[in-house]
Amino acid sequence: MPRCDIIHGFPILPPRMPDTIPVLTIDGPSGSGKGTISRLVARRLDWHYLDSGALYRAIGVAAGWADLDLDDAGALVRCTFDTEIGFQEPEDGDLRVIVNGHDATDELRTETAGAAASAIAAIPEVRAALKDRQRAFRRPPGLVADGRDMGTVIFPDAPYKVFLTASAEERAERRYKQLKDKGVSVTMDGLLREILARDARDASRTVAPLRPAIDAVHIDTTGLGIEAVVGRVLAVVAP
Ligand code: C5P
Repeated sequence: MPRCDIIHGFPILPPRMPDTIPVLTIDGPSGSGKGTISRLVARRLDWHYLDSGALYRAIGVAAGWADLDLDDAGALVRCTFDTEIGFQEPEDGDLRVIVNGHDATDELRTETAGAAASAIAAIPEVRAALKDRQRAFRRPPGLVADGRDMGTVIFPDAPYKVFLTASAEERAERRYKQLKDKGVSVTMDGLLREILARDARDASRTVAPLRPAIDAVHIDTTGLGIEAVVGRVLAVVAP
């Protein structure tokens, strides 16, 4: 609690100092390559990394473990407050996500967790409850934050903002390759339909809909390789 004076019963809070720790926000629709690009850029800059989608997915997984109904907003809000989420980054491996003491990294990436996350993410109280948890990732020397509302709601004062896009066909194709490599059988048509449905849901919800911040640099990754995109994003931070 910051120090404050009280005059006539109203606390007068000291003005909040602007946060000087730099943040690079990377927002965009599913399959735009945000995750891969954000991780690589964070590594190159040696900054911290926030995968905000993993928080929503973690609540989705915890809700599944507790057998909660995805239409029961009250239970999902309680679940958000009760769920402990931790991140571990081994020197030589990928980020691990620990939910209520269990390594849930693999379960988090499933379509079931993604769909649950998208439904849960539409509940305003859940988003509000996760705000401070996300802002706590802002630590020196800097943060790369990946999500849907990083530049608009969570870090509106971020000095660097990027909005990544790619055609729906290319995003479906990337997802198809990923799933095929994992031995999951899916069809391109089905994936394209799912991606368009998730885009529509994320963009049309009333709270924190997916949209670029007005000061974001737009990068269309259609037809670009990973290194080319990383280079363009790094150029936003150090032109
Ligand atoms: O990015 P990822 O696919 O892991 O996110 C899963 C879902 O969580 C998204 O479809 C979206 O509905 C939700 N999400 C969100 N806001 C964020 C990150 C994710 O609403 N900042």
